[in-house]
Amino acid sequence: MVAHRSPTLVSLADYECEAQRRLDPGALAYVSGGAGDELTMRENAAAWQRLAIRPRVLVGVGQRDPGTTLLGKRRPHPLIIAPMAFQRFAHRDGELASARAAAKTGAIVCLATLASTTAPRLAHAVPDAPRWFQLYVFADRGVSRELVAQAVEHGYEALVVTVDLPVLGFRERELRTPLQATHAEQIASAAAAGAQGTMTPPQFASLIDADLKWSDIEQFVGESPIPVLVKGILTPEDARLAAEHGAAGVVVSNHGGRQLDTVFTGAEALPEIAAAVGERIDVLVDGGIRRGTDVLKALSLGARAVMVGRPVIWGLAVDGADGAARVLEILLSEFDTALALAGAPRAAALDGSFVAPAPWAPPRQ
Ligand code: LAC
Repeated sequence: MVAHRSPTLVSLADYECEAQRRLDPGALAYVSGGAGDELTMRENAAAWQRLAIRPRVLVGVGQRDPGTTLLGKRRPHPLIIAPMAFQRFAHRDGELASARAAAKTGAIVCLATLASTTAPRLAHAVPDAPRWFQLYVFADRGVSRELVAQAVEHGYEALVVTVDLPVLGFRERELRTPLQATHAEQIASAAAAGAQGTMTPPQFASLIDADLKWSDIEQFVGESPIPVLVKGILTPEDARLAAEHGAAGVVVSNHGGRQLDTVFTGAEALPEIAAAVGERIDVLVDGGIRRGTDVLKALSLGARAVMVGRPVIWGLAVDGADGAARVLEILLSEFDTALALAGAPRAAALDGSFVAPAPWAPPRQ
């Protein structure tokens, strides 16, 4: 029996349950774990739930447009597959399966530096996938420049520099149940940076330059023919610095709650950041997006797009490319329903008037 055909898998939560049964213990600990007490990780999803939607009626919602404008280009909808490392732990096709899901649904796939395929290989295998490249800047800048050059040459339309991982967060689930070590050769970027033998995620992470600074961002911006986004921003101060150093956008993100526990969630940090820089650069958000209503709330608070991470891994674990595509389709179909029922037929017209603190939400302690 093939589980994905089961009518019981109708929500992202259903995919999570099914993936939990299928992933091996180390993979499950890696994907589902967060830093410290996992407070931020849990709150990421809860913070969207603490917002109520203020729906309008009788505006005519027969024709709906979930489209958004991102980096100056029209996109059919605001979903992006977040960069996630080592995706072969979830399915043998790994990142290529995610890219196929992106091509099928019109989502952008953001390929991770620590991917189990290379930027050229993905571009050849799935040329139709709209694609961005996530950059972890290695201490060896020559390798980083080469990764960027490859991405540019192979049709990646933006660089997403992740800046919230100078060192790896303290993740207890991973410490208790480590991910099976990966051979460095399977992670081509790491091998190019001199990695050898079998390595764990913390060992791969140690290749990342802990001394990255704003001047480096400016340098990447200066050298890059494609727009540069800075991912891992949680304050308006840093969002302004990103804009001043030439970034085309920021991703408001706490790395899925995997880095510093007890930082703000995306939903909490987003409004202030959008107010500070939203007129100048694109603001994106990730963390805890599990429902179409979450997407609607993110756009209402000023995001142009949302990144979706763990749910795509659940889809991969359940049924490879088809499972990942199904997860995105569920989210898109929920988003379409939310637009209709909130009286917001054009996603691009969502604004702060569509959300308010939910009366059922307990005040934050
Ligand atoms: C992680 C890094 C590798 O969160 O992005 O595991």
